Amino acid sequence: MSTQNRLRIALQRSGRLADSSLELLARCGLKTMRGKDQLVCVGENLPVDLMLVRDDDVPFLIREGVCDAGIVGFNLAREIELELLGRGEDCGFEIEQTLDFGACRLSIAGPEEAPFRGLGDLSGQRIATSYPATLAWFLREQGISAQIVTLSGSVEIAPRLGTADLVCDLVSTGNTLAANGLIERMEVSQSQAVLLRAKETFIEDRAEVFERMLERMRGVLQVRESKYIMLHAPRAALTDIRRLLPGSEIPTVMPLEGSADRVAIHAVCNENVFWETLEALKAAGASALLVLPVEKMLA
Ligand code: PRP
Ligand code: ZN
Repeated sequence: MSTQNRLRIALQRSGRLADSSLELLARCGLKTMRGKDQLVCVGENLPVDLMLVRDDDVPFLIREGVCDAGIVGFNLAREIELELLGRGEDCGFEIEQTLDFGACRLSIAGPEEAPFRGLGDLSGQRIATSYPATLAWFLREQGISAQIVTLSGSVEIAPRLGTADLVCDLVSTGNTLAANGLIERMEVSQSQAVLLRAKETFIEDRAEVFERMLERMRGVLQVRESKYIMLHAPRAALTDIRRLLPGSEIPTVMPLEGSADRVAIHAVCNENVFWETLEALKAAGASALLVLPVEKMLA
């Protein structure tokens, strides 16, 4: 198959989102020839190639048409979008799907010893960040005028160096802030991993491959919490039982050999099934309860 027809997805090579991004694609059935140190991972069983790059490069690779899609933190996509918008340019990518991993927040933090009473205390301060466009947007929204100090890395040491009073940085576990004697003061926005796609129409068959990968990704996201539940119950309790099944679609009801008033019920629950639910089902007359994990789902 020509490379024209191979979908290119950009992923972070190493860092917070790297492992989960690869794992998601693996769960979508993509097998790649390993070689993590290489820039390109070739898909063996699907016309999909992965480009392993710095996360900051992902949105630009899509914008420049080198890749068709990519996985990055929402915070980064938003920052680049806002920055380009500020220059009157279109970003060329859009968010197709949130991916339920890599949760973190962009927050303003300051030294423990510096008192902070609220929003008004940001006024006139110097705030160091790698997300200047997002911070500018936030300050504008809040009607605060402060000085933004743009840094490309090691933002957390700026207050100690005296180059800024506060920082605006990503917080995940909070370890980085704590290690630098900083306290989170105010949340600017929340973030998680997202799938980006080029706004432009895909070349040839790539559109079809993208749709297929997207559908599989959605399937993976959906089954994460899903359970398959099987039980026996009196036919008369059917309505009660259905009400107790968390997030289930129409269950399958089957007769039980040699039993006129009891039936077997099978259902997919789109939420986790807890012990409390099983106990309630039992109290409603259910028996032979069995809960199984769901591996794949295609609606
Ligand atoms: C962010 C941020 C902090 C760290 C916070 O960096 O800049 O350094 O994560 O995480 P913690 O609260 O768990 O300590 P990121 O992972 O985005 O790396 P990058 O800026 O090098 O891309
Ligand atoms: Zn980065």
